[in-house]
Amino acid sequence: MSGSSSSSICLAAFTLLLSQQQFTANAFSIKSVEQTTCSPAAAVAAETTSCTPANNEHKERPLLQNFGKQIQKRIVNSKSGAHRFGMEGAYTSDETFPCLDMQCNTGGEKKDNNNDDDDSIFSSRREIRDAFNESSGTSNNSNNDNSDDDYIPGIHGRSSGSGCSIIRLSGEDAASIRGLTEYANEFFEKVDYDDTNKKSMKDVGVFRIDQFVYAGFDENVNDEGKMQFLDTRILPYRTCNNYQEPTLIPLEVGELVGETSLSDAHKGINTLMDIGYQITSAVLEMQSDSANKLIDDGTRLEEDNQSMIGSDVSNSYHRLIRYINSQPSTDEDTAAFNSHVDSSFLTLIPMPKLPGLEIWSPCLKNGKDGQDGEWVRPIKPDCYDEEDNSAYIIAMAGEFLQLTSNGKVPTCIHRVLPPMPGRISAPLFLRPRRGDDALLDVDLDLGQTYNKDGLYHEPGLLDECDSMHLWSVHGILVN
Ligand SMILES: [Fe+2]
Repeated sequence: MSGSSSSSICLAAFTLLLSQQQFTANAFSIKSVEQTTCSPAAAVAAETTSCTPANNEHKERPLLQNFGKQIQKRIVNSKSGAHRFGMEGAYTSDETFPCLDMQCNTGGEKKDNNNDDDDSIFSSRREIRDAFNESSGTSNNSNNDNSDDDYIPGIHGRSSGSGCSIIRLSGEDAASIRGLTEYANEFFEKVDYDDTNKKSMKDVGVFRIDQFVYAGFDENVNDEGKMQFLDTRILPYRTCNNYQEPTLIPLEVGELVGETSLSDAHKGINTLMDIGYQITSAVLEMQSDSANKLIDDGTRLEEDNQSMIGSDVSNSYHRLIRYINSQPSTDEDTAAFNSHVDSSFLTLIPMPKLPGLEIWSPCLKNGKDGQDGEWVRPIKPDCYDEEDNSAYIIAMAGEFLQLTSNGKVPTCIHRVLPPMPGRISAPLFLRPRRGDDALLDVDLDLGQTYNKDGLYHEPGLLDECDSMHLWSVHGILVN
């Protein structure tokens, strides 16, 4: 259990707020890819709530709606792509995904690090940006037809941009990711331990905290017998009876796994939040004021307003997924997750031991044999040394990164084919903040990249989104 008795007043108030909004245990429901581009939890929200846009955000957004349709087209096209994992001539993870060496910012303070050419052993902001920047070095063509006339292999090797990079962490950062993995294993071990534990998590169910904001445990997603979800969110630290630790919601998770494992979970989630914050702000060339305003990294900006506890819960969330009863297959029709993109800036996944995740690499679109691309499984780079104690994270661009990068970063299309039963994945979905202050000011927040067109640039799209709450984009795309 995360809290001490001194935190009971804060937590009691929050528990009351949540209990008023309980949903049923099977509230998760995944729409097919034809219906939505968002993550499963967001799809639930689209079915159970309606978006109430702020200010003038209810007006028509034709370019934004077209943005969603264009992504859908790419998803549909990816379905005809070849799955050639392990076959001769197939792309390898090494030649498709850049690998970045990164570390957490130390001391809990976010650096206003805009030094593109930091020559430390860790990747500079420029290298991070290049790794995710689709059009940089891959094509001089910006008219969206992916013409192969002027294709130049770029940092993605033979890939023309999957929107995915591998992140290598070392030292304490790597240890925190291993701790998060151990927490994930421990959670499911405890759920399986006896009927009391099973019932306690089943009783937690899935509950709504705010519009499009859910947390909880679903022991059988969509009643399909394929997977289980635990969605947790951070209530950022606040000064309340001297209790200054963040809280992981649902609180029952801490009670189940115990203090040590919960502490490991916090450290690992914080590492993912921090790495995601750094990547997003580097890719968008954001100043720290803009990044803090728009990127929800599980911290809070204001120290007062205790009554707004519900809206303080992080928009970004961490998910544990356990795949159950599946038979390994390479057939998309049997996928655990069909081809889709995530409604996030970035999705960060500690690399699971068992395969299953595949990334769409539209590499051969610009290649020689006329194919559209192929599915590639992200694995540790060949140079991986078993002795170096590194930890690897798969970092996939979500649709918010494509939007705010003006089309320079393609949102990463991915799927999960039926993996070995018992595979556990622990992704973090880094999303925009949803507070009133999180208004997008295109010139101020994205001014440095605004005028640089990307391969998926849509003229006028960012102008249409100017002065919007970025999180309202989510409501428009799922409706
Ligand atoms: Fe996903």
